[in-house]
Amino acid sequence: MQIKNICCIGAGYVGGPTMAVIALKCPHINVTVVDANPERIKAWNGPLNALPVYEPGLAEVVKEARGRNLFFSEDISGNIERAEMIFMAVNTPTKTEGEGAGMAADLRYVEACAKDIAKYSKSDKIVIEKSTLPVRTAEKIKEILEENSTNIHFEILSNPEFLAEGTAIQDLFKSDRVLIGGDETESGQKAVQALVDVYANWIPEEKILTTNVWSSELAKLASNAMLAQRISSINSLSALCEKTGANIDELSKAIGMDHRIGPYFLKASVGFGGSCFQKDILNLVYLCKYYGLDEVAEYWHQVIKINDYQKDRFAQKIIDHFGGDLTGKRIAILGWAFKANTNDSRESAAIYVAEKLHKAGATIEIYDPMVSEDSIYSDVRFYWKEIPKTHKDRFDVLKGSPNFNNVDAFAIVTEWEAFKHFDFKKSMVFDGRNILEKKEVTHLGK
Ligand code: UDX
Ligand code: ADP
Repeated sequence: MQIKNICCIGAGYVGGPTMAVIALKCPHINVTVVDANPERIKAWNGPLNALPVYEPGLAEVVKEARGRNLFFSEDISGNIERAEMIFMAVNTPTKTEGEGAGMAADLRYVEACAKDIAKYSKSDKIVIEKSTLPVRTAEKIKEILEENSTNIHFEILSNPEFLAEGTAIQDLFKSDRVLIGGDETESGQKAVQALVDVYANWIPEEKILTTNVWSSELAKLASNAMLAQRISSINSLSALCEKTGANIDELSKAIGMDHRIGPYFLKASVGFGGSCFQKDILNLVYLCKYYGLDEVAEYWHQVIKINDYQKDRFAQKIIDHFGGDLTGKRIAILGWAFKANTNDSRESAAIYVAEKLHKAGATIEIYDPMVSEDSIYSDVRFYWKEIPKTHKDRFDVLKGSPNFNNVDAFAIVTEWEAFKHFDFKKSMVFDGRNILEKKEVTHLGK
């Protein structure tokens, strides 16, 4: 089947960059990204230096493809109707209430999206799960589509996203693999082939892996769980390094030189953040519990517990340095994004660290080169139980070129390149990301 029109529902961190690259590499396919939030669409159609997602290289891709065969539109119904292939790239946060609260994925956005697809489709469609979803969600989507439509055949594929923020465009250009899960029926395999043909425009065929739907769904959760597990493993060892005098960087290097282990994802940190790792592991834990695999669930849950421990340990280290009370102290938090080269702060370790230091009495100054002031304030409002009301309430977000006044300590939480060039003079620096080589710097894990 020759695909001419692709529609992607969800113009966020996943949908935006992924569709921009598909459009760039497939000039013969019209790719339209729709979203329920008109502001987002407006921003995607706006100036290249103010796109809703910051990713190195993204603006260049959008510049080339936008208006040619890449479109951002508020018209959800019309674009669903026109497309032969529909990607679902809506958000799937962890449930905050009801059964599975705090663990299972909240599927309300996916369900709403499936209902829209059923409502506006007038011909057969290939529907692709792009958002990270619990295993067997494809079945649920199929049920919703079939219950809400008549005489239309929907083929559901799983095509999980493996891009990492900050390197999304490079990851999309040169994916390690593209995974496509589909039904083993004839129509399922035809749909799989149609999607293989899209990716084959730039991805070598040996890197396109086809599986059944459930293997594909589970592979996404398992990949993220294993990456996060490596970080928790090295972070747990950083605590031991502090006690024994071993150096965590030297340890990482020594371990990573074993080709069976490899050097990646062995960098000690304040703890992993981002919208995927924690959510996906919690999903995995929930799934294992559901199937009565309590030991397996506990094994994976430990990865998150160590991550929480690491964030807490970093903040506690600063508090202990000042004798257990930060009243009257000014602490500058450098970095709010969950990693460098992104404006995304979802689940960032900085949020936790800032809260703990604030509770211990400190006045907090926050600086991030890319995360907006509004996002920082909304994170604080969302995550903290006691909200700092005003700037005067020992809480300040610094904009532009930061001017730190009489700061008692700096806490480097995000590994932004810019921080390497800061002049910290004689200040106390707590560096969670091991990016500085200064005498007065206290590394986490040393
Ligand atoms: C992750 C997966 O890498 C990606 O394949 C998936 O599609 C989405 O989730 P992302 O969360 O964007 O991507 O970033 P990633 O580079 O994986 O980093 C996640 C967190 O781990 C960040 O907070 C990062 O700082 C931290 N990290 C990473 C470490 O603490 N140490 C490391 O060695 C590597
Ligand atoms: P992700 O990191 O998974 O891309 P984001 O939150 O960045 O998540 O983006 C998801 C986007 O999906 C948001 O812009 C949101 O407005 C959009 N969205 C959620 N539900 C729907 C829906 N039913 N129809 C259209 N857009 C939706």
